[in-house]
Amino acid sequence: MNPVYDFTAVDHAAMLGDLIRLELYRRAIENQVKPDSVVAEIGTGSGILSAYAAAQTKNKVSAIEFAEYSAKLAGDMMKAAGFHHVEILRGMSSDITLSPEPSILITETIGALGPEENIVEICHDFKKRHPSLKTIIPARLRIYAQPIRSDVVVDAENGFFKSYADASFKSFNFNAIRGDLNNIWTSRIRYRTLEGSENIGERTLLVEYKLGETESSHFSTDVDVSRYADCDAVHLYFETDLDGEVLLTTNYQDPETHWGNAYVSKPEGAKTLNVSFTNPSPTLVTQWKN
Ligand SMILES: C[S@@+](CC[C@H](N)C(=O)[O-])C[C@H]1O[C@@H](n2cnc3c(N)ncnc32)[C@H](O)[C@@H]1O
Repeated sequence: MNPVYDFTAVDHAAMLGDLIRLELYRRAIENQVKPDSVVAEIGTGSGILSAYAAAQTKNKVSAIEFAEYSAKLAGDMMKAAGFHHVEILRGMSSDITLSPEPSILITETIGALGPEENIVEICHDFKKRHPSLKTIIPARLRIYAQPIRSDVVVDAENGFFKSYADASFKSFNFNAIRGDLNNIWTSRIRYRTLEGSENIGERTLLVEYKLGETESSHFSTDVDVSRYADCDAVHLYFETDLDGEVLLTTNYQDPETHWGNAYVSKPEGAKTLNVSFTNPSPTLVTQWKN
C-alpha cells in the first residue's frame, strides 16, 4: 500500500475549507448514523466527520488516526466539544481491531482521483476483520474519463510553449525541443478549473470500486477518442456514492471541491488514452497511443 500521506495543518485547512465535501459527508452521516449505531472512522484528521457521527449516536465512536499530531488535536477537540463517547485511537487502521464491531465505517481517504490514499485496500482490510459492518461511507467509488473541448486547456498549453519560445536567444531556440515539450505536457495529469469547457462524446467508466468488497485498486483501461476530431483533452474525475442518496464528484460541471478538476491534454493525432493505477503509486498513469 501507499504510505500514509503526511497531512499538515494547512492541508487540513484546505479540506475543512471545502464546504461542498463537508456538507455532503454530513448529509450522508446524518442519513445513516442512528441512535443505536456503533461507528468507526478511519483517518479522522481534525475529527470533523466523527463529530458529525457523535452528534447522531450516544454509542461509542472510534476515531482512528495514524498521524500523532492530528490524533492529539482531534482528542482535544472531542473533549472541548463534550463528545466523551468518541475514542481517538492512534495508529494504522490495519493494526486496529474493534470490539464490539462497528455497524458503520466512515472514511475520507480519497486521493486526487480516488484510490491514491488506499481507500480501496483500507476498506477491504477493515471489512474483512469486522464482518458485521453494515454500511461504509462512501459505499462506491467510480473514476470516469470524459473527452472535452476546452479553451482553458488550449490557453494553458499555449502558455507553456510560449514561456519557452519567448526565452529563445539567437540560435538557442526552444523550437528545437518542441516535440519533447509536447510529450511532457500531454503525458501528465494536470489540474485547472475547467469551467466553460464542453463535453464532446460519451464518458468512459475507467473503474468502479465497491468499498469493503473490492480487494485491489489496480486497473488499466483504454479510452477511445478517435471519433472526436475537436477533442482538446480528456477530463478525469471521480464520483462517489457516500450513500444511496448523496453523490460527491469532481466532475467540472459540478461545484469545484478542493480536489480540483483533472485533465490530460491530447496530442495531435492521438487516438487512445490508457489510464492505469497500480498501488503503491502516487498517481494514476496516463499514456497516449496513436
Ligand atoms: C484526507 S484526510 C481526512 C481527514 C478528516 N477525516 C476530514 O475529512 O477532514 C485523511 C486522514 O487519514 C489519515 N489516514 C490515512 N490512512 C490511514 C490509515 N490507514 N489509518 C489511520 N489513519 C489514516 C491521515 O493521516 C489523514 O489525517
